[in-house]
Amino acid sequence: MRGADDDGGWPRPPGAALDRPSIARVYDYVLGGKENFDVDRRAGNALLNAVPESTVLAQDNRSLLRRVVRYLVADIGIKQILDIGSGLPSEGNVHEVAHALDPAAHVVYVDKDPVVLAHGRALLSSGEVSAVITADLTDPDSIFGDPETGRLIDPEQPSAVLISGVLHHFPDEADPAGIVARLVERLPAGTYVFISNFLDDDEPRARTLERAFLDGGLGTGRFRTWAEMRPFYAGLELVEPGLVYANDWRPDADTPTDSPVHTLLAGAVGIKRS
Ligand SMILES: C[S@@+](CC[C@H](N)C(=O)[O-])C[C@H]1O[C@@H](n2cnc3c(N)ncnc32)[C@H](O)[C@@H]1O
Repeated sequence: MRGADDDGGWPRPPGAALDRPSIARVYDYVLGGKENFDVDRRAGNALLNAVPESTVLAQDNRSLLRRVVRYLVADIGIKQILDIGSGLPSEGNVHEVAHALDPAAHVVYVDKDPVVLAHGRALLSSGEVSAVITADLTDPDSIFGDPETGRLIDPEQPSAVLISGVLHHFPDEADPAGIVARLVERLPAGTYVFISNFLDDDEPRARTLERAFLDGGLGTGRFRTWAEMRPFYAGLELVEPGLVYANDWRPDADTPTDSPVHTLLAGAVGIKRS
């Protein structure tokens, strides 16, 4: 087991900055993963000290993501998925959930943090239908111009685009709704888009946790009101039940009914009709 200041144990991925926490590694830490360094654990502990249920918040986000993937693959019949801001491998990875239902579904993981590529490649034993690329949500060319995306995603066919737990790391000045719109305009009608974001539903823990994100090392973590989230889905028709608390989105037998952070996360799936 690594000590508090031990940054050894696994090779530093090329391009990984260890002088500051990374969103992917802090998220991994909060979820109980091992792919993090002392600088990440300090930032993660700032969140856990502020709101100890932060772990449940991350788990609820993963649980929502899995339900969305099941819905898209099983109910809609989606054959190609772009998971943007995918993060480090975690329990119930998107390709695992998708392939349990359709082994031929194509999955491209996209993250701007090179640590994701380093760990993702090792995870994907079968590269035939899945890939991990380093690219940026704010630069659609970096995603669609990547040869792996070209190999696995047919731009003429409907895809599912997952932007799960990513936009709250964009400040308002970055125009997250515009970033989504510029990406979605590259995709054909019939494309599904899933977005989740931290929710500010007027409860004090939202502001406490937002402060911990901003001051605790990460510097990003914007809790948004329902009204602030709605523009993310502009031009999309929301599928039932619309934009709701994460655990209220098509809950299944495994969805927590008594989450202590029920009101701190929301999400929706929309379809591009034309
Ligand atoms: C909190 S994690 C979410 C992981 C996963 N999507 C989930 O919901 O469990 C956010 C991820 O978004 C990535 N990210 C942040 N900004 C990004 C950008 N501009 N382009 C691509 N990925 C980005 C981070 O590196 C991080 O891995």
